[in-house]
Amino acid sequence: MPSLHAAIPAADDEFTPGALGGGELERAAAVLRERGSVRLGRLGGRGDVLGTAGRLMSPLWQHRDADPDGLTVIRDTGRHEGRPGFAGLGRGDLAPHTECAQLLHPPRLLLLACARTADAGGESLLVDGRAVLAELADSHPAALEALSAPRAAYFGGADGHFAPVLESLPHGRWRLRLRQDSLARFSQEADAHLPALRRAVERNTTRLLLADGQGLVLDNHRVLHGRTSFVGERLLLRALGQPDPRLALEPGFPAPWSRPSPADAEVAVGRG
Ligand SMILES: [Fe+2]
Repeated sequence: MPSLHAAIPAADDEFTPGALGGGELERAAAVLRERGSVRLGRLGGRGDVLGTAGRLMSPLWQHRDADPDGLTVIRDTGRHEGRPGFAGLGRGDLAPHTECAQLLHPPRLLLLACARTADAGGESLLVDGRAVLAELADSHPAALEALSAPRAAYFGGADGHFAPVLESLPHGRWRLRLRQDSLARFSQEADAHLPALRRAVERNTTRLLLADGQGLVLDNHRVLHGRTSFVGERLLLRALGQPDPRLALEPGFPAPWSRPSPADAEVAVGRG
């Protein structure tokens, strides 16, 4: 699977719990604002994951499947395969999606930490929505128009709601929302353009295999995540939440054709 616009930084840009607690939070925030994702490393266990989530998120969300501390164990439970909305707790492929797209206000940040790799498979798939938006705007403007309509999609079951897949926000910013399972239905107009969307998603997918102790923080309003099917006892810990105000995340992400805001541009300076 090609990766033309890698959404994730190189491994030497991994942030450790110690660094995030010791003054690197601002640089991590700048990476997150620019790229929509941050890599984590040297996560020693559940306490490190929880501590890292606590530095980045405020508040932490209590997801339906979460343990009392707020972390959700993502593994094959043996009893969720095939149930709508529970595919993450099986061992099959997961098509790239944003988390909790069926909610009116999905959480902004998603942290995934690997506690045990699979024997085979279980690669993470990441797709930068900004690159998808760029491709559609360039090559399929009619697709972008249909997918950004207020009723482009209906997400969820009986208590779901209509929303655009790519939502235009004030100040030239955009927000992405997508799932590709039975909890998403599309308008006739949007449905006609799903092949173009799926091709853009495929072309901009980055694959990576998280090792034990490695993780990712994703801007869930910008970056799609998925995984390949796996064999073995793969185990991830997940946290969801709103960004801590110190991260200074503006709503959505800047359009690819717009100039970066001063806050988004800071990372270039920080990288030296
Ligand atoms: Fe997910």
